[in-house]
Amino acid sequence: MRSYNIAAYISGSGSNLKAVIESSRKGEIASKVVLVIADKEADGLKYPSSLGIDTAVIVRRNLPRREFIDVQLRLFEKHGINLIILAGYLKKIPDEIIEKFRGRILNIHPALLPKFGGKGMHGMNVHKAVLEAGEEFSGPTVHFVDEKYDHGDILLQKKLRIEKGETAESLQKRVLKIEHKIYPEAVKLIEDMK
Ligand code: GRF
Repeated sequence: MRSYNIAAYISGSGSNLKAVIESSRKGEIASKVVLVIADKEADGLKYPSSLGIDTAVIVRRNLPRREFIDVQLRLFEKHGINLIILAGYLKKIPDEIIEKFRGRILNIHPALLPKFGGKGMHGMNVHKAVLEAGEEFSGPTVHFVDEKYDHGDILLQKKLRIEKGETAESLQKRVLKIEHKIYPEAVKLIEDMK
């Protein structure tokens, strides 16, 4: 079993990030989140900050492209980052970082990929699309990140049956609850991989 120094990327409330941090604090996973990067002053930065975890807001439009990448690489170097998790990060990770960390970047998506993924498929859009398509099942997916949105190899998926009278809101709630369980599980799988 390996233990990783995790960098997490968020854009929003960071409940998945919180679930991973809590799992690490309980000793369920050996890895630790040591750096959180956001593309704006996201609410989800508060919890890691309160624990003394290093956080950074890095805004693409404020920096030349090379500097935008180098700032992140320098932070990875400083914290010995060897695993990256995207937890509700709405921007694309630059190809240079994907190349450098291939097989070591995970994302969580609130539907059963390869269906209902891709650009624009985030938040409530996903759950509405699932219901409109009349799917029998939905559920979260953890996958490796490659250069295309929601595209890399799937690591872990959990299915739930869509109930009668299900709304996008109820589905989001039920899927999110499972996300909080499977993201730490996915990290554990990576720890146990040779
Ligand atoms: C989750 O539904 C995740 O699957 C998606 O973005 C949402 C993030 O939620 N990628 P939170 O910020 O972790 O609460």
